Amino acid sequence: MMAFHTKPFRLLSLWAVLGIAIAGAILPSDQHVFSGSFDGTGNAAKVEDKIVKKLKKAEIIPTVIDEFVPSLLLHAKWSSKNKAELGNTLKPSKLDDAPSVSLHAPSDSSSSLCTNVGVTYTVALTDPDAPSRDDPKWSEMCHWIATGVSASTKSKDKNSRCPTDVHLADLEEVMPYKAPGPPEKTGKHRYVFLAFIPANGTTEKLHLSKPSDRQHWGYDTDDGETKGVREWAAENGLVPVAANFIYAKNKKQ
Ligand SMILES: *[C@@H]1O[C@H](CO)[C@@H](O)[C@H](O)[C@H]1NC(C)=O
Repeated sequence: MMAFHTKPFRLLSLWAVLGIAIAGAILPSDQHVFSGSFDGTGNAAKVEDKIVKKLKKAEIIPTVIDEFVPSLLLHAKWSSKNKAELGNTLKPSKLDDAPSVSLHAPSDSSSSLCTNVGVTYTVALTDPDAPSRDDPKWSEMCHWIATGVSASTKSKDKNSRCPTDVHLADLEEVMPYKAPGPPEKTGKHRYVFLAFIPANGTTEKLHLSKPSDRQHWGYDTDDGETKGVREWAAENGLVPVAANFIYAKNKKQ
């Protein structure tokens, strides 16, 4: 399931993954923070497979994040016509203000929204194609980090305490939103959303580190090396639960 890489800077994420595996083994089952599939019907597995397939096709896995099992769907919406839809292309001029973000469970049985009640979700937006996909020497560029707890939840089944939708209202910004602004003649950029939860399942307030810079997410890098959300998430004890992405390019090409 997991793609492990040998580069030293990826070891941190390996430790995070091991941490979950260990937590999964020792915590009582109702505290699992990581659930492999949505339900037993197979429908959910298809959604999950489709997301992973699209992330791989766009080389977001493994360039931006190691392979993971998305247990939720991430919706990011700038306006009714401008939403992230796993690789659609949007005009930068429509992306000025931070989008509203919500997370959805394809099914309300055994979804991680049930097991993760009370955790803080972290949403990040990153551009691995800065200044261009061919020459990502500033990559990744951090566009946004925000955290939120579920503000409103809905459940189809009134008897169920499990929410099927989590709207993240009043997001607290760790890194203020910077609208995608791909420079002229740099082709299409991938703008990748990731949602994370704390690997240890804590419901306490998180104390996330703020990157010192947007470029390389503030990390020092060697020539040609990219760093970004993967390193930052591992450093902050976060594991991915959902992803989405769009493409955007400058009008002048
Ligand atoms: C859980 O993880 C968070 C985020 O990394 C950390 O701040 C907190 O101290 C951890 N809590 C426990 C009980 O390990």
